[in-house]
Amino acid sequence: MGRRTGPILGAGVLGLTLALTACAPDAADDAIQLVGVAMPTTTSPRWIADGENVTAQLEALGHDVDLQFAEDDVPTQVAQIEAMLDAGAEALVVGSIDGTALKDVLARAAAQDVPVIAYDRLIRDSPDVAYYATFDNARVGVQQGTSLLQGLGVLDEAGEPTGVTGPFAVELFAGSPDDNNATVFYEGAMSVLQPYLDAGVLEVASGETDFATIATPAWNGETAATRMGALLDTHHAGTRLDGVLAPADILAVPILEVLRTHGYGGADQPWPVVTGQDADVAAVKALIAGEQHSTIYKDTRQLAEVAVQMVDALLAGREPETNDVTSYDNGVRVVPSYLLTSQVVTRDNYTQVLVESGYYTQEELG
Ligand code: BGC
Repeated sequence: MGRRTGPILGAGVLGLTLALTACAPDAADDAIQLVGVAMPTTTSPRWIADGENVTAQLEALGHDVDLQFAEDDVPTQVAQIEAMLDAGAEALVVGSIDGTALKDVLARAAAQDVPVIAYDRLIRDSPDVAYYATFDNARVGVQQGTSLLQGLGVLDEAGEPTGVTGPFAVELFAGSPDDNNATVFYEGAMSVLQPYLDAGVLEVASGETDFATIATPAWNGETAATRMGALLDTHHAGTRLDGVLAPADILAVPILEVLRTHGYGGADQPWPVVTGQDADVAAVKALIAGEQHSTIYKDTRQLAEVAVQMVDALLAGREPETNDVTSYDNGVRVVPSYLLTSQVVTRDNYTQVLVESGYYTQEELG
């Protein structure tokens, strides 16, 4: 395993590495504070890395950690958070499943003066979310849309129009409707794609472009694969599909499998341009093999570092560092946030972005 699940060596994104050394736990310290870390699922490798990174960094600062994964089941996540509060957790880090379903349990946290950090996904409809640690999710969507157009040759490497007008046949996928990020990714991508749809450079034969229709509940890869198969059989039989907007690698990889069974990937039928997100190992292998066009790299070590500095500051009575206090209105309040930057990865730059940064070793990528 590479450093994907290890500490970041050298200065971290917030200079936290120094703090780690400075605040190394004293074995005799009996004021150890318990932090509950609720993660959504282990079905996607990124959440496992997130859970491990947050835990390791909190422990390095001398905190005890209760890490739980809820396997995409909302009642399980609520029960896990309740158990953390029962066990005396003094702060919570929550990667939510359904961003609208935690209002009551977070009210309980607030009644116990337990601050809550929303991790990666915004928790909606609750006044009891103290801070939000995430990536610039709108930018992720823009990067996905841009990358699809670059793969098709409509935009050049610098993102400038090439004059290529297609038309190109594409189909669009979105993430889970209960995950706030899914809408933000979609809107970011559509902000780039819509002008080309309007101009007829991109054509969606199914006509399915609105979020509700193209969403994939629970980010379920099988659901996306089934939809891809139906779209191919119904709208692209005998006509080539040129591109697929896939919002995450856990959807892109099963979509590629369906494309393969429909004859794509051979010399006479090259792969459509397929996007992704997370730089999952399976997806990076697909990039290297020339199957998936791109993914979006979000360094989960940095995200853990941001969330951990928020927790540590709050427990010490300090104000956490934020860099965005306007973008994320959760329906009740604008949650002060720290947004990290993501990066587009293709076959051309994966070595530099993923291997030279120490996120993966070359061996892990085969
Ligand atoms: C995350 C993505 C992830 C998706 C599915 C989103 O909320 O931001 O990184 O691919 O959930 O797990």
